[in-house]
Amino acid sequence: MMHRWDQAICDEVIQIQYEREFAHLAIDVLMALGYGGRNGQVERIAEWIHDYNCLALVNLILPGVQSYPLKLLFTRLLASKDAFKDAVAAAVKKRQEEKDSKCVDMLQALLGSSETSTQQVIAENMALIIAGTDIVAQTLTWTVHYLMLYPNAYDQATHEVRSTFARDHLITSAEARAQLPFTEACLYEALRICAATGVFLPRVVPKEGIWMQGHFLPGGTQLCVNVAGANHHRETWQNPRRFVPQRFIDNPQLKAQVLSFSSGARMCPGRSLALCEMLPVLANLLKNYSFATPKDAQFGSWSTDADGNPIAMPRRHLFTVVGPQNPDRDCQIIVQHAK
Ligand code: HEM
Repeated sequence: MMHRWDQAICDEVIQIQYEREFAHLAIDVLMALGYGGRNGQVERIAEWIHDYNCLALVNLILPGVQSYPLKLLFTRLLASKDAFKDAVAAAVKKRQEEKDSKCVDMLQALLGSSETSTQQVIAENMALIIAGTDIVAQTLTWTVHYLMLYPNAYDQATHEVRSTFARDHLITSAEARAQLPFTEACLYEALRICAATGVFLPRVVPKEGIWMQGHFLPGGTQLCVNVAGANHHRETWQNPRRFVPQRFIDNPQLKAQVLSFSSGARMCPGRSLALCEMLPVLANLLKNYSFATPKDAQFGSWSTDADGNPIAMPRRHLFTVVGPQNPDRDCQIIVQHAK
């Protein structure tokens, strides 16, 4: 991504739609880790993931969407899901046919498990691609958006990165975690203030039922954990509606209170990978480039609510992610080389 930006910038400034850039970056990273490298289908994978999320949301509202006659209304989404499944199945088959593959990646790890059938490997791979790409892209998108809304935080993170590392140094994840506490805090604060996690985390009460805060909930009841509610709870967070990365520097224990990766047995298994991926991406971008909001942007540090907090761009809730409602309008950024 940076190589492409460098070629486009030369001595000029360029305007970039960063949500799309991050979507492609997250797919590239997962393809490299999981499937032995880029496969040239980034655009199509982004579309499959989007369609799959839409279909899952429709299925939640209209269960049975895959059966006749309802399925006639959603032929495009269902065809997209089939194309996604076929592509994953083809990748699995190809790897199975390569005897003694030396690949060290997620696909090989799943194939190496003797207890997993081919159908399960395909399903697990689809789940990994869906779970591990869009949400990373949306988290980076919200982080950049909030840094643009809060120029002091942007300046502080940029100063931290540039005063710690030379321009030609590619910052690794370990270096970023050890030496860039404020930049890391910006990521946590974005995860808190606008979790890309989706609206709720559904759970089903076990058959014996449970007591919760003085109420008995019978077995089988469906519960939904309100992630945004927890991430904005006034008993835990001061000024919850303000983007304040400094809170994690003053009290590092607060990181454990951010519920965006969930908690407990079903906590996101990709949490460490996501942080290892997002932090160096953010740090290297802040080191190499200067960002500014375009003049015609609708949302910026100047447009504030009644409490004086900058208003964030409107969001759109899909099944597993919360992203910008209008990325082509609101995720534009002016980029030039850092001076
Ligand atoms: C910013 C990045 C990410 C966030 C905020 C996030 C958040 C979440 C959340 C909230 C869940 C649901 C947990 C629950 O139901 O309690 C989840 C599940 C999951 N995540 Fe992530 N995730 C991220 C990145 C990743 C990555 C990079 C991967 C893998 C490559 C991944 C793989 C998974 C998988 C496989 C599940 C399902 C786990 C299960 O069914 O038990 N996630 N994630």
